Amino acid sequence: MIKGIFPIDKFETVETPFYYYDLGLLKQTLTTVNLLAGSFGYHVHYALKANANKRLLPLIAQAGLGADCVSGGEVNAAVEAGFSSEKIVFAGVGKADWEIKSGLDNHIFSFNVESIPELEVINQFATEKGVVASIALRINPNVDAHTHHYITTGLNENKFGFNMEDMEKVIRLLPTLNHVQLIGIHFHIGSQITDMVPFQNLCVRVNEIQDYFEAKGVRLDHINVGGGLGINYEHPNHIPLADFESYFNVFHKHLQLRPHQTLHFELGRAIVASCGSLITKTLYVKEGTTKQFVIVDAGMTDLIRPALYQAYHHIENISSEAPLKQYDVVGPICESSDTFGTDRMLNETKRGDYIALRSAGAYGEIMASQYNLRKLPGVYYSE
Ligand code: LLP
Repeated sequence: MIKGIFPIDKFETVETPFYYYDLGLLKQTLTTVNLLAGSFGYHVHYALKANANKRLLPLIAQAGLGADCVSGGEVNAAVEAGFSSEKIVFAGVGKADWEIKSGLDNHIFSFNVESIPELEVINQFATEKGVVASIALRINPNVDAHTHHYITTGLNENKFGFNMEDMEKVIRLLPTLNHVQLIGIHFHIGSQITDMVPFQNLCVRVNEIQDYFEAKGVRLDHINVGGGLGINYEHPNHIPLADFESYFNVFHKHLQLRPHQTLHFELGRAIVASCGSLITKTLYVKEGTTKQFVIVDAGMTDLIRPALYQAYHHIENISSEAPLKQYDVVGPICESSDTFGTDRMLNETKRGDYIALRSAGAYGEIMASQYNLRKLPGVYYSE
């Protein structure tokens, strides 16, 4: 039996809960991204933080995307998966010594630098190794992404990046650091952004910042506008792809790229969210006084987004065709936030039914924990 995209018969042999990845959908997404970004000559780096699954990464690398990493572990995983090191960017406010050294040894494309002390440490290690580190300055554009405050990053009060007020000092410092070379500037305003206006605002800000650097006589070859393109969590079956077309068009239309410049993106969620679902089994259906609870064997340890960000994931009973009924879908963890959805309409559910939590390919498996000494979720692929 297949319901929607799911080969349920095959699930009998797999222990729940597990992540199910539709590799066909991932490939379709990558083809779309390549086509649209390629038409403008844009470079897309995949943000490994969204999902570093060992089957997914090589597919993304083979599609030709670069990698956006935020730790030495991610840089290593990217290199192992076949991403070319000239396409690896490495961001993070707190890069440890070994992480900087490993980035230098791998000759990565760029360190996205977030503070003056970091700049000095990179210069020191690069000097010791006799290499020149390529760096981009991460600048807070002070653009409001209008998304959940935990995933808004482009405002001045965030811990990330430089503010424009720091730039005078940085521009004076850079010529004294002989082992770092400034190649560009980097921005990121937040995540799960589906309205194109914040991206348009970012373009306007970047144009102003570009004018500033030009006036100072500083040449920038690369502009990196980060990631953040959101997906439609409500309708995964009807709208499985992010709106890449509008997204790239906004930058094409509003960003004044200089002829010698290349534009870079760091997309995570939009690449992998839709292709993943968390599959869990119904343990019990419990009658409350006013509510009915579907208690499943997955918990916030397997998918933390609803508990941490009040995130919405579409929920389906994939083994029932019975009439719809209203349920709260909850996990087994001893925390009230361990709830996947309230007042959801599911086909009438009984013990043993498979439940799919959709669009869980980004920030799902990678954020799983063993809290309560639970096992990490398994993985199963469409191919
Ligand atoms: N670049 C930088 C500098 C970032 O901080 C991020 C995400 C990305 C790129 C990729 O953003 P994306 O295209 O995936 O939106 N765990 C949260 C999301 C945290 C995002 C952190 N930064 C969630 O589950 O919603």
